[in-house]
Amino acid sequence: IKKIGVMTSGGDAPGMNAAIRAVARACSYYNIKCVGYYRGYQGMIEGDSVELTARNVKNIISKGGTILKSARSIEFKTKEGRKKAYENLKEEGVDAMILIGGDGTFTGGMIFSKEYDISVIGVPGTIDNDIFGTKFTIGYDTALNTVVEAIDKIRDTASSHNRLFFVEVMGRDAGFIALNAGVGAGAEEILIPEEDLGLDRLLESLQRSRRSGKSSSIVVVSEGDKIGKNVFELAEYVTENLPDYEARVSVLGHMQRGGKPTCFDRVLASRLGVKAVELILDGQTNVMVGVADNKLLVTSIEKAVKGKHTINKELLRISDILSV
Ligand code: F6P
Repeated sequence: IKKIGVMTSGGDAPGMNAAIRAVARACSYYNIKCVGYYRGYQGMIEGDSVELTARNVKNIISKGGTILKSARSIEFKTKEGRKKAYENLKEEGVDAMILIGGDGTFTGGMIFSKEYDISVIGVPGTIDNDIFGTKFTIGYDTALNTVVEAIDKIRDTASSHNRLFFVEVMGRDAGFIALNAGVGAGAEEILIPEEDLGLDRLLESLQRSRRSGKSSSIVVVSEGDKIGKNVFELAEYVTENLPDYEARVSVLGHMQRGGKPTCFDRVLASRLGVKAVELILDGQTNVMVGVADNKLLVTSIEKAVKGKHTINKELLRISDILSV
C-alpha cells in the first residue's frame, strides 16, 4: 500500500475533520501517502483532490463541517460515473479509499468495490446515528448536545408564556436524536419514526400534563416521524382538539449539523480514523469500523448497509415515567 484516499460524503457531521486528520496522520506515521478527495464521490469522478500531510491537517480537530466538503453525487450512481472515479484513482496511484459518511456513502462504496479492484473502508459519520455495526457515529454526540441546548432555551420561553412547543429535530428515518435529546432535555412527549404511538395517546398525555399542573410542555418530533402529519399540521391538530393550549413550532434544521465537535466525537473520530488506515495495512477491505462497549468493532460494509441499528425503546418508558 503506497497511497490511501479519503473523502467525506452525504450530510456533513461534526467530527469529520477530526477523522480526516486521524487518517492523514496515521498515514504519515506509517509512511504512506494520503490524498483527500473533495465533495465525496463527485471529487473522485472529477479528480478533484489535495495531498494531505501530517502538517496540513493541523488545527482541524476542533472544526465543524468538513474541510474536504461533502456532496451526494448523482453521477456516482451511474456506471460511467464510477468508471471515471476508478480511472482517476488509478491514475493518482490510490490503492484504497476511506469513506467517511453514512448509509448512502457505504452503499456507493459497496457497489464500487464489487465492480473494481479497490479496497474500501467505511468510517461512520452522520449525526443520525443510524448505522448498523456501531453504537455511535461521528457527529451524533455533538448534534445531541446542540439539540439539548436548543430545547433548554425553548423551554425558557415556553415556560414564560405557558406554551406548548413542538420541536422538530433531524434524523431522517431514525429517532436517535429525538429520543435521546428528548430525554436529556426533559421533553413531555417524544415522537419517533420507530414507534407510532398515535394521536389519541398524544392528546391524552397532554391533557394529563395540564391536569397535573404543568403550564408548559415540549414535544420533540423527529422529522421522520410516521404519525402522518408534519410538525405544523400536528400543532394545528393538537390545538384544535385542546383549545386551552397555545402552541408554537420550532424546526431546528441544519444548525444541528454545525458547530465544534464534542470531545466524545473527536476521540471517536480519532480512533476510527487510525483504525481505518490500520485495517487497510492488514489487507482488509469492504469493512466498516465502528465502536461498541468502548471497543473497536469491524463489520462488513454489506452488513452495515443492510442491518438496522435499533433504538433503545427503554428510553421511551423512561420518558413516560419522567414526564408524569
Ligand atoms: O443524514 C443527515 C441529515 O442531516 C438528516 O438528518 C436529514 O434528513 C438530512 O441529512 C438533510 O439533508 P440535506 O442537508 O441534504 O437537506
